[in-house]
Amino acid sequence: MPLRLLEIGASAGLHLRFDHYRYEAADLAFGDPASPVRFAGLWEGTPPFDAACTVAVREGCDVDPVNPATEEGRLTVTSYVWPDQRDRLAALSGALEVAARVPANVERADAPGWVAAKLAQPARGVATVMFQSIVWQYLSVEDQERVRRTIEEGGSCATSDAPLA
Ligand SMILES: C[S@@+](CC[C@H](N)C(=O)[O-])C[C@H]1O[C@@H](n2cnc3c(N)ncnc32)[C@H](O)[C@@H]1O
Repeated sequence: MPLRLLEIGASAGLHLRFDHYRYEAADLAFGDPASPVRFAGLWEGTPPFDAACTVAVREGCDVDPVNPATEEGRLTVTSYVWPDQRDRLAALSGALEVAARVPANVERADAPGWVAAKLAQPARGVATVMFQSIVWQYLSVEDQERVRRTIEEGGSCATSDAPLA
């Protein structure tokens, strides 16, 4: 099924464009070989890179989103990388290039309410994937519990034509 990506704490939404990056492990690869973002040899074993993947929806929330379409936004995310980490700066520059051509919507919103709104109804015909990266520890224990409960409730309503991961 096409993926409906929902990310909390998405910042500039660069993970929401993951399918436009290139991943290589051993003799398998996933993604555009011409992508300006390339991850190679980072895995133990071989991830299922031979899976087909289509992204239908790219949405995120953040209490303080960064707009990668502006010079200020690009400067903000670049300031988060240490200046001597040239590989990371190059990957970020590539991801910003991708962000300029692949739209993703990152709303200014607090995670618990946003997750509840997004999972209020099962979305048919897409596989909904709710994810986070380095955000969970910023949520209070109460908010973690609210998000966890909402996802569990969403999972209990999931069906084979409206799955939730
Ligand atoms: C360390 S950054 C991680 C950004 C991005 N996910 C990444 O992996 O690079 C943490 C992000 O979580 C956001 N954040 C913190 N608390 C949040 C909340 N309650 N709801 C939504 N976003 C939140 C911050 O504004 C920040 O953009």
